[in-house]
Amino acid sequence: MKPRIGVLTSGGDCPGLNAVLRGVVLAAEKLGWEVVGFRDGFEGLLPPGNHVILDRQSVNGIMALGGTIIGTTNRGHFVAKVGAGDRTIVPEDIIAGAKKILDELQVRALIIVGGDGSMVTAQQLQEAGINCIGVPKTIDNDLEATATTFGFDSAVAVVMDALDRVHTTATSHRRVMVVEVMGRHAGWIALHGGIAGGADIILIPEIPFDFDKIASVVKAREAAGYLGTVVVVAEGARPKHGEQIKRDVEGGEFRLGGVGEIVAREIAKRTGKEARCCVLGHLQRGGAPTTLDRILGTRFGVKAVQLASEGHFGSMVSYQNYQVRQVPIAEAVNRLKLVPPNGEMVQTAGDVDISFGD
Ligand code: F6P
Repeated sequence: MKPRIGVLTSGGDCPGLNAVLRGVVLAAEKLGWEVVGFRDGFEGLLPPGNHVILDRQSVNGIMALGGTIIGTTNRGHFVAKVGAGDRTIVPEDIIAGAKKILDELQVRALIIVGGDGSMVTAQQLQEAGINCIGVPKTIDNDLEATATTFGFDSAVAVVMDALDRVHTTATSHRRVMVVEVMGRHAGWIALHGGIAGGADIILIPEIPFDFDKIASVVKAREAAGYLGTVVVVAEGARPKHGEQIKRDVEGGEFRLGGVGEIVAREIAKRTGKEARCCVLGHLQRGGAPTTLDRILGTRFGVKAVQLASEGHFGSMVSYQNYQVRQVPIAEAVNRLKLVPPNGEMVQTAGDVDISFGD
């Protein structure tokens, strides 16, 4: 039997996951290894196991597909984190069951593609004696341990395209158009998408906003002869002295959403102008990956196999200074990368007349 490695995708889906899977399979086959894909994230490791052999045929043509061909979940038995900074312990019997499945299948190492929460789980599996390699993934781009993650560029491209489209409604109707985008703790998607799409106001979690200030920007723009105003708001943004807008709580993890409607309503109330909100939601997580995400996903997948072949277990692939490198998973977890409010990107935005509503 050929040496075997396993792979699973965990957490929210995003464009580029399939590029990683393809990279893993093709690089592993070069080494004469076989790849076992576990379905639906870590849940595929639950006895009796739910897996599929991934060969070059099964990954043929998947590069352009969004999502993940082996499925994923951000719920289930292996959840080791239910909020920023939180950590829970995956039950011992669950880990023991996973170890048994991997031993029975003779899988010598497991590549885990996921976000921060999945890396917390990976660390616990590693501590329990399962050889793990992490591949970071999040459209929010909020992991400190890597300069960027695949999925982010594709999400930003969706935001930019949406802004290009709402500009015409804003000017045709002399309206304020508010676009709500993803970004729980970090405003990177709103910031990059907003700059690329020519937003006038960007609201992010790192810079609490003031409704009166936003209204004054809208009025000043109208006085200066601009017909419309476009606002981008990250779902995690909050007013000064206010809270994030939580829709509901599921399994200890809250879902955000709704701040866009509130911002539109408050602008209309304060300015007398028509304001409309458009929530991009999961449109940002689907569709074909951009060039950048296809290349980054491929590089991450290939690097993960290289790390497995060299025995660097307990490490996570990381992008630093244009190179794909590795960092210990233990050092990578629970470290959020937030937008520095006085950083170069925020200053650049300010210099092209973008307000942060503060
Ligand atoms: O972490 C990625 C992310 O897309 C966040 O931006 C968002 O808050 C969350 O996932 C949404 O998760 P779900 O798909 O479970 O609603």
